[in-house]
Amino acid sequence: MGLYSERVLPRIVDVACRMKAAAPQRQRVCQGLAGDVVEIGFGSGLNVPFYPPAVTQVAAVEPADVGWKLAHRRLGATTIPVQRSGLDGQSLPFPDDSFDAALSTWTMCTIPDVDAALGELRRVLKPGGTLHFVEHGLAPDERVRHWQHRLEPVQKRLFGGCHLTRPIVELVTGAGFAIKELDVYYEEDSPKFLGANSLGVAQSP
Ligand SMILES: C[S@@+](CC[C@H](N)C(=O)[O-])C[C@H]1O[C@@H](n2cnc3c(N)ncnc32)[C@H](O)[C@@H]1O
Repeated sequence: MGLYSERVLPRIVDVACRMKAAAPQRQRVCQGLAGDVVEIGFGSGLNVPFYPPAVTQVAAVEPADVGWKLAHRRLGATTIPVQRSGLDGQSLPFPDDSFDAALSTWTMCTIPDVDAALGELRRVLKPGGTLHFVEHGLAPDERVRHWQHRLEPVQKRLFGGCHLTRPIVELVTGAGFAIKELDVYYEEDSPKFLGANSLGVAQSP
């Protein structure tokens, strides 16, 4: 990792992800989380204030050391134990059937091999366990998709490999999850190419 991706980018991501529009989406996606939870792409811990009291502990998976440092204050303000437990969502250091639920917010865009990460979540979730997700991805409208394809190379270079055109719901179902709840929408106050969001809960068989 270079200086930009190691030290600068996690700070940019922290500021971008603190946008006002994100908070209600974090609140929604965290609803219903319970028991032992794994969060991939933990970032700077912006979901921590939204973990429901039914969550017993969280295993946080995050490669960026700076993100973890920026999470310090939020971690100090919760009573839910959160451990940095892994560095890579593509290869999770947990036994099969370890978790009741998983959380991913605006992370599936960035993980290089997202199919591998979803496969790992399937493996570590208990049967019937749920994946809660809110992700930006391929827009429902052709005109927006056109711009997403044009802008994706720049987006990937500037934002640590962030893709604009990943078909989130297809990726989740392709990994064998069954969608239980889903809302697809454009985020308020975001350009459409960046704010085509899918928020939902999917269940591992
Ligand atoms: C756009 S940020 C979102 C951060 C956080 N989930 C949030 O909602 O604020 C994407 C995150 O994915 C992390 N990430 C990148 N590659 C990853 C990988 N292979 N495994 C797990 N997380 C990864 C990045 O370091 C970054 O923190």
